[in-house]
Amino acid sequence: METIKADVLIIGSGIAGLYAAKLLSNKKKVILITKSNVTHSNSYLAQGGIAASIYEKDHWKNHYLDTLTAGNFHHIEEATELMIKHAPDLIKELIQLGVPFDRQENGSLSLGREGGHHKRRIVHAGGDATGKNVINHLLKSIENEIRIDEQVTAYDLVIFEGHCVGAIAKNRKDETIFYQAQHTIMATGGAGGLYPVTSNSPTITGDGLAMAYRAGAELADLEFMQFHPTVLFYDGKAHGLISEAVRGEGAKLVNQDGISIMEGIHPLKDLAPRDVVARQIYDVMNQGDQVFLDISMIKDFSKRFPSITQICIESGLDLQIQLLPISPAAHFLMGGIKTNSSGETSIPRLYAIGETAFTGVHGSNRLASNSLLEGLFFAKQTAESILLKIDIEGEPLFPFPFIHESNQQIEISLPSQEEIREIMLKYVGIVRTPEGLTFAKQWFESFLSTINVIKTILLTKDQLTRLNMLTVGWLMITSALERKESRGAHFRTDFPNEDELNWRKRYIVRRRETNE
Ligand code: SIN
Repeated sequence: METIKADVLIIGSGIAGLYAAKLLSNKKKVILITKSNVTHSNSYLAQGGIAASIYEKDHWKNHYLDTLTAGNFHHIEEATELMIKHAPDLIKELIQLGVPFDRQENGSLSLGREGGHHKRRIVHAGGDATGKNVINHLLKSIENEIRIDEQVTAYDLVIFEGHCVGAIAKNRKDETIFYQAQHTIMATGGAGGLYPVTSNSPTITGDGLAMAYRAGAELADLEFMQFHPTVLFYDGKAHGLISEAVRGEGAKLVNQDGISIMEGIHPLKDLAPRDVVARQIYDVMNQGDQVFLDISMIKDFSKRFPSITQICIESGLDLQIQLLPISPAAHFLMGGIKTNSSGETSIPRLYAIGETAFTGVHGSNRLASNSLLEGLFFAKQTAESILLKIDIEGEPLFPFPFIHESNQQIEISLPSQEEIREIMLKYVGIVRTPEGLTFAKQWFESFLSTINVIKTILLTKDQLTRLNMLTVGWLMITSALERKESRGAHFRTDFPNEDELNWRKRYIVRRRETNE
């Protein structure tokens, strides 16, 4: 088996992984691996932008309060405050890097508004192509500085004497490689691909979460999957995100008779927090109605939203009608691998950043456009903490761990990816029942009991993906069963209200044992 050595191994090529790579690249030997191509990430698809109280009449405290309110005050407040306070500086750093954020005629930044925000504070680029613009600039800044291995699938973390010493992966030729590193950063994204209707790429299947779980790391808050209110839903399938920024410019959610569905539901109406809007759309659709986004009031729609215009054209929808058929879709996992404010997990030398991490800054329902912000901020915190640590500790040498290599194929009965997605949508979606969750738990366990005893390295990439989906789905279900209340993105029919007294706490899960 080939061994490739690095100071820092980064798994994943979204905004968090790339920003960490950039900040570490001139001091450390960094290798970044990604299971697909380097631009294949949720960050690249991000439309809305980055939230920051950059406007002189705004204040970080307003942004902070909107963040806490949207997430039902289920946050780690110190981490949240730290991130929100630093948001304007991060925007300035990206501007220095050359990211061409959209500007008004007078040269000041053009600021959008999205759900849950009481002010315009979303910095965007290319109209609705913020992620693509930031990622392309980050890639340009590191292209000659670090090694990037594409089409490399990470299988498992390697833990030696309690420390993470890298990861085992398979390359495009199915050859096994040991990436040995002094520090390993998980930047593997969330789990939207566990659902059939999602704004994510279907390849986002919770791989990092499953790997961290198998390695014994702590994970938290996995019951909180955010459903974005609006993906374009046409001809029975999802075609891509319709950014909340569209509602920020005045678009309205209406039923098939053109009547507003958010009137009287929340004081912020169409710009209510996402969990509220998604549940209302779900209720209306459940009664057999279709829901549309009325964009007739937005002048120059295709200029302000070129990517969404392209999505509509490619799906064959006539934009002249100015009514976009929509559906809620799995979008963002608030929970993840538990970290502190320096990106450190419960396993020494293993870090997690971006959507795969649980940092406590989103509560039970993330505020719009706080995700790229989280990725950037905690990438920076983590890079700084790694630089500091090596300076203090020197270069530890880890002996090469014994790893069994085999190309033997294993026959195993597993559900297809589509079957897993259907079960997740039906029983672990926007509205959850105790019977549905219990059924889903048993269904997942019936497969996990056989596959869990097999060494992952013996699995094909497709079998590994299904194992990861089963593991993460099961963790989400057990967490959802554990939380006996409704809060933010987690809604149970048997406990429809928040239980402030008993459930401010979070559910932390670790392999073989759980605790609160
Ligand atoms: C959007 O543009 O609506 C998505 C941005 C986000 O999830 O924060």
